[in-house]
Amino acid sequence: MSRRVQYTSNGDIDQLHLAEVPVPDVGPGQVLVTVLYAGLNPLDWKMLQGGRFGTVESASGNGVDFSGVVASVGEGVADFAPGDLVYGGLPKQAQTEQLLIPDPAERLDKIPHGLGIDTAGGLYVAGRTAVAGIRALGLSEGDTLFVSGASGGVGIIVAQLARNLGARVIGSASPGNHALLDSLGVEPVTYGEGLWDRVRALAPNGVQAAYSTQGEDEITGMLDFGIPAGRIVSIGAGPTVAETYGVSIAGEAKARRDDMVWLGQAIAYGHIHVPIARVFDADEVQDAYRHLLTAHPAGKVLLRFPAKPLTDQQRAHLS
Ligand SMILES: NC(=O)c1ccc[n+]([C@@H]2O[C@H](COP(=O)([O-])OP(=O)(O)OC[C@H]3O[C@@H](n4cnc5c(N)ncnc54)[C@H](OP(=O)(O)O)[C@@H]3O)[C@@H](O)[C@H]2O)c1
Repeated sequence: MSRRVQYTSNGDIDQLHLAEVPVPDVGPGQVLVTVLYAGLNPLDWKMLQGGRFGTVESASGNGVDFSGVVASVGEGVADFAPGDLVYGGLPKQAQTEQLLIPDPAERLDKIPHGLGIDTAGGLYVAGRTAVAGIRALGLSEGDTLFVSGASGGVGIIVAQLARNLGARVIGSASPGNHALLDSLGVEPVTYGEGLWDRVRALAPNGVQAAYSTQGEDEITGMLDFGIPAGRIVSIGAGPTVAETYGVSIAGEAKARRDDMVWLGQAIAYGHIHVPIARVFDADEVQDAYRHLLTAHPAGKVLLRFPAKPLTDQQRAHLS
């Protein structure tokens, strides 16, 4: 048997529990992964709540991001073999011990040498969203970019990618996360009342572009501050809001197949740092979700599934 994070009706965090489920059979073209780390995203909580993310009518898994070890491969799979260290994403299923990947060519990559298996387990949603966002921003060297939620899973990658492109980056976060942003070359400001006065104090000559992780109020604040609509990219507002104000949406749907490989290598080479705020054992799943939503974590929150220790060869590959 395997264990997975499960809920049987939409609601809040207390719906989540670990359930025993059969180990899936591996069919032709499929790959079975023993998951070691599964990253949490606000999306997982939104899916649990239901609403525009759909209503569950029977037991459902949760989570998208994962990393682990290939346990077995189906007939015809040539690109992966048992023992490979892998990472990827599979919506509403990843928080499980044994994860069946039906379409490995689309969803699975080998972990590059030097990328930690824990970091790899929290990259799929935030990482791909961030890379898509930076493409949409079209930054030039010397631009000043404002990033909201710069201490969050997405914002912390966007901010560093922008710095690497030669932009000056001002990022909003709660005060407890300012030192982290400082250490990454991002100028921190506290969000909330008076935000734009604080941004103006840092950038009296203005800000050329903005990345918005929040809703409509944040977008109107950016426009009032003088940032052109054509240079604002949002992942927090829906299409109606974006259309109303003429800003772009560049969510995960705009990511490309090779974005994970590219980002994984950038992290492995030390060009981007993705901090891990806290790792919870899988049976602490409710605490993990609460931590994500209420503790202002500095980086990613991960679930860890117990599994056999890695072999010496696997460890050597990761270091
Ligand atoms: N459209 C898409 O495809 C897509 C993809 C990924 C994410 N998203 C959405 O984008 C948002 C951010 O995702 P994430 O993974 O980065 O989340 P996260 O890791 O939970 O980070 C949230 C960030 O928002 C900041 N924050 C909290 N309250 C804020 C406020 N009132 N004003 C400004 N910033 C605030 C947090 O700062 P502190 O922790 O320092 O307080 C933190 O930096 C979520 O709503 C998520 O669902 C959308």
